[in-house]
Amino acid sequence: MMKKHRFLVLGLTLSLVVVFFTTAFGFEKAKFAVITDTHMELYGKDGMKMGASSCKIVENTCKALNKVADLDFVLVTGDLLLDGEPWNLDLMKAYLDDLRVPYYVICGNHDYAPASQAKAEKPPYVAVNKAAVIWTFQGHGYRGADAWWGADPMPGLHLIGLDANVPIHWGGHMPLSEMKFLDKELYANQDKVNIVLCHHNFVAWHKDDEFGGKFDKFQMDNAPEVRKILEKYVPAVQVALTGHRHIGLRHQKVNGVNYIVNPAAVSYPNQYTIYTLTPTSVSYETRWVPIDKETIEKAKANLIKDKWWSPTGASDEEMLAFFEGSGPLLKKGTIQLKPIAQRKF
Ligand SMILES: [Fe+2]
Ligand SMILES: [Fe+2]
Repeated sequence: MMKKHRFLVLGLTLSLVVVFFTTAFGFEKAKFAVITDTHMELYGKDGMKMGASSCKIVENTCKALNKVADLDFVLVTGDLLLDGEPWNLDLMKAYLDDLRVPYYVICGNHDYAPASQAKAEKPPYVAVNKAAVIWTFQGHGYRGADAWWGADPMPGLHLIGLDANVPIHWGGHMPLSEMKFLDKELYANQDKVNIVLCHHNFVAWHKDDEFGGKFDKFQMDNAPEVRKILEKYVPAVQVALTGHRHIGLRHQKVNGVNYIVNPAAVSYPNQYTIYTLTPTSVSYETRWVPIDKETIEKAKANLIKDKWWSPTGASDEEMLAFFEGSGPLLKKGTIQLKPIAQRKF
């Protein structure tokens, strides 16, 4: 009888150990892609933004992503369209709908009208409003009318899509109601690994991006306040992904949060990024958009020609070096993350 009892206790203990180790983490690995700043235009012209090639870039990138083994989902971090044209919105959705994996979208400053001060001053101008973009991508992050959202692509992993777009100009500002949402969303998801997405940047990537600088609109104007909210929830949130800057992938760690800006698909260096996330690390690897070499070379030459994008006082070589970033043109790296006590899912 005693022997039987001992077997029962041993059996129960073993099953508890198995249950603990198989459910201790909500997820073991998530592989996802980030496409940003495609500025797609059906009738586009090639400039710094390679408009004439933009549809091919999007179509081919989606096809390439469908061949990536074990891909779990795709993130699109804004400036999908040239300037919010309805035909580009429909076509972009058609390409994204052909992805084999779920995709999540946030808006950029070029995704609805008026996309720029200049266009606001020169009507007529055909483009959709922000609500139309949000409606188009319902279920791809958006749930209802808000421009910000939260979603669980898999147990234990939480995505937070943010929006700091300001109609008329290309700068960013996060409204108070959205900051409250961010705080509440992180509070409610502290037992998960959180990835925050925003088109505008939380940090400066160049001296020009600092407040009062030539390019301060690449950062949201209340970035320090928003960063403080994120910092409150480290280690539940340690990764924030952005676009908008159109430079090669960069990484900056501030008070426990890793800010990563992703390369634009439509302008040089034309790339997208594959991420592999575990509860204790995030790895990134950028890839060229699948387009011919001549187009990439043309994009490089067009970038250098477009002085608007040049850092203050930079020569052509310095401008190119800034856009390419240090080291190899294709960036690869791993960032260690502090483990969190995840809930058992
Ligand atoms: Fe952009
Ligand atoms: Fe942008």
